[in-house]
Amino acid sequence: MEPSVIHLGLAGLGTVGSGLVRIIEENGDWIARRLGRRLQVKAILVRDMDKPRPITPSPSTHLTTNPADLYTDPDIDIVVELTGGIDFPRRLITEALQHGKSVVTANKALLAEHGPELFELAASRGLGLYYEASVAGGIPVIQTLKESLAGNRIKDITGILNGTANFILSEMTQHGEDFATALAKAQEKGYAEADPTLDVDGWDAAHKLVILIRLATGQDVPLPALVVQGIRNVTAQDIALAREFGYRVKLVAQMRDKSGRIQAGVYPALLPEDHILAKVDGPFNAILLEGNAVGPIMLYGQGAGDLPTGSAVLADILALARSGSCPNNTGFLETRLPQAQILAPELTVFRHYFRFTVVDKPGVVAAIAGVMGESNISIAQMVQRGANADSSVPIVFFTHSAQMRDVERALSTIAAFSFVVAKPVHYRILA
Ligand code: NAP
Ligand code: HSE
Repeated sequence: MEPSVIHLGLAGLGTVGSGLVRIIEENGDWIARRLGRRLQVKAILVRDMDKPRPITPSPSTHLTTNPADLYTDPDIDIVVELTGGIDFPRRLITEALQHGKSVVTANKALLAEHGPELFELAASRGLGLYYEASVAGGIPVIQTLKESLAGNRIKDITGILNGTANFILSEMTQHGEDFATALAKAQEKGYAEADPTLDVDGWDAAHKLVILIRLATGQDVPLPALVVQGIRNVTAQDIALAREFGYRVKLVAQMRDKSGRIQAGVYPALLPEDHILAKVDGPFNAILLEGNAVGPIMLYGQGAGDLPTGSAVLADILALARSGSCPNNTGFLETRLPQAQILAPELTVFRHYFRFTVVDKPGVVAAIAGVMGESNISIAQMVQRGANADSSVPIVFFTHSAQMRDVERALSTIAAFSFVVAKPVHYRILA
């Protein structure tokens, strides 16, 4: 007897949507063997019917520009949202849930900003709202936190969560590529968001961190509470200097539970070259989790792209198809999580890298070192390099642990010296 069919309504046939359709076609028999049912994409929503596509959906699939075709069709069991943006998918997912459809989405921006409202709606209808692909592409980190590590208290998350930024930094480090060329390559490969500023300015990783913090701590950290800094200003000079002293520059997303207060942010940081995350290159992502029972765990894999992300979307579809529905979308009994207590960013403590561009004359190093001393910043290492083309010189300091409040005060005092000819550069150093 032919296995019965799960009908999908797919919104979006771009990078991820096409990847998903390809996997369903290629692995259809395998999926049926696991599920006892076949998956069929019954309708696909796009913006432009005439756009050339990398794949041709089967003739039985209804291609449409009308969102209602997905959620009003009584045959469609699951709506899969792979469009991107906020307002349109928010309306689409709301309609789908109100029409009794469980939803799978890869949309981290939407979940970071409006997750609680959507989780609440899904739970109130006894429906699933699954989002494995929203964080770290093909890496099964959502399921890991929600199920496999559910019994652990997670105090620390450190991750490389944006494939585009990691690809750009890797290209700049390994091939001396300039920023714009590396970004264009990431876009061509389908890693970047439709608006790539989300990738390079750190917001995409911040969206993902918000989602992970909820699952790991059972608390909500609103996006504005995060420190978010991107990679737009990372230069070849800092990458080379960091390398010379045994570090790699990475865009890192980090959450630490400091005695009940959450410290969280996304920033370019120097990682010692033997740090396990320093070796994560290209579009790959990795997440280090520290559980109080399991200890450290690292998850590693492709964080972006059509098939890896499609693989994560498919995992959600299979999970929903197996369970029918699941109200446990937040990973906790509550559908609205309490707000976390936030550790003020100025009270956070790191080691630091500073690069000052200065006029090469007597007293400069003493003046800078004096400000650092007055600001409780202890210098671990200092180096002056050869003159730049305009005869200014770079001076680099590596510090011991210092509070951000002291660092900010010192940087603004030093920036005001007449011998400082460019904005000081500062990165955190992670151990
Ligand atoms: P994409 O390549 O830009 O594709 C978006 C698709 O959605 C296109 O087919 C587009 O239609 C359709 N669409 C967009 N707005 C629409 C609207 N208002 N009405 C109807 N159709 C609409 O995007 P993507 O890279 O696949 O990403 C999709 C989602 O997955 C995003 O939320 C993204 O953040 C997330 N994600 C992406 C990746 C990745 O590696 N790319 C990884 C993880 C998560 P047309 O084709 O007709 O323009
Ligand atoms: N633009 C995202 C990235 C896609 O580069 O990581 C995966 O979420």
